[in-house]
Amino acid sequence: MKNRAETIILLDCGWEDIQTFARLLRRSHMYCLVMPSTVSRERLLQEQPAGLIVCRGEAGSPALPAQFERLELPVLQLSLTAQADLEELSDRALDFCRQDCACSASWRMDIFLQEALADIRRKVGKETVVLGLSGGVDSSVTAALLHKAIGAQLICVFVNNGLLRKNEVEQVQELFGSHFAMRLHYVDASKRFLEQLKGVADPEAKRKIIGKEFIEVFSQAALESKATFLGQGTIYPDIIESIALDGNPEAVIKSHHNVGGLPENLPFKLIEPIARLFKDEVRELGALLGLPAELLDRHPFPGPSLGVRHLGAIEPQTLEMLRQADAIVVEELLTSGWYHKTWQALTVFLPVRAVGIKAGKRAYEYVVAIRAVNSIDALTAQVTRLPWELLERMSRRIIDEVQGISRVVYDTTPKPPGSIEWE
Ligand code: XMP
Repeated sequence: MKNRAETIILLDCGWEDIQTFARLLRRSHMYCLVMPSTVSRERLLQEQPAGLIVCRGEAGSPALPAQFERLELPVLQLSLTAQADLEELSDRALDFCRQDCACSASWRMDIFLQEALADIRRKVGKETVVLGLSGGVDSSVTAALLHKAIGAQLICVFVNNGLLRKNEVEQVQELFGSHFAMRLHYVDASKRFLEQLKGVADPEAKRKIIGKEFIEVFSQAALESKATFLGQGTIYPDIIESIALDGNPEAVIKSHHNVGGLPENLPFKLIEPIARLFKDEVRELGALLGLPAELLDRHPFPGPSLGVRHLGAIEPQTLEMLRQADAIVVEELLTSGWYHKTWQALTVFLPVRAVGIKAGKRAYEYVVAIRAVNSIDALTAQVTRLPWELLERMSRRIIDEVQGISRVVYDTTPKPPGSIEWE
């Protein structure tokens, strides 16, 4: 297809903001890929690029990595100096793409969708794909995309780890099972997870148990599905970051196992159909595929779910308190319109009790903390200044409606020094 050839490679020679720059170009309809400066000539040419933009950082580096000398491609050199303005640089880059590389810069999400559908059908043929569906944005969009491409050749596995939010199981079943009529294999493993977590208070130990159980439960369900492909909702920042971390340039696109370390020897071929999209593009694709805005605009939610928001050892009763308090917080955020003005909000159960008076009687019950932050990339975060009236309403409702909670506090710690999650 014509647009396929219209790829520009951004060669990362120490330019810190390269992801932002790539997104700017893509928003101007110029499709580009980021590659490390150590990438081989062959790997780069595989993408059949129309041109190459060498992105040099402040520290500077050799003009053009040696392996790209005498490459028969137009090359533009850009340096990100302290005074440089990204918008201005992207205008220069766009001029270069149009004039020197003869690109039409007409990449759009509906074109991506058509290409992705054709790609998936070609790759999968008559075989079947199994996909772990968590209800999060990336796996949901991957599911909708694969389903549109191959219909009943897709089997989604949805594992209930017992730590999900209120109504989450029903919502996932309703949307994917009923509305999209996907083959949804629901595995209720909640007893098993809670059994393994019994008495475990250490955050790292809890995470390990949840991760290990998930792998076991999911692998078994995946094997039972008899599928030959394993679908994954890997997205582009995962790949760019994993290359930056493990320094393996050949890893471009053939990514890590993002399902949290599935065994290497599982008999599946991988398929990662959104692995070249940034997060905002994944949402755009999701909307195009008919996924509801409530799902696409959801706050980030950690893989270990409420398990890392219930401090200390998890008991079914106290977990239920957290689940109810969390549902109240989310509901109040949504009705007040603050959900979408906040990057992420969470409710944390604290295994300490405080004295109070409830319905005229002395109460000695548990505490929950509410946290709301704004952030761009989760690396730093500022506390959201939620209106006092909203916080009071949440607090009043939690104390009135959740049996066992008699005190609510608001977390005022930015990141750093605090992390976003408490565990
Ligand atoms: P922290 O707590 O490290 O969180 O400031 C940064 C962002 O990452 C999310 N988070 C996780 N996501 N699995 C995930 O998929 C995890 O184990 C995990 N821990 C933290 C967190 O919600 C925040 O958005």
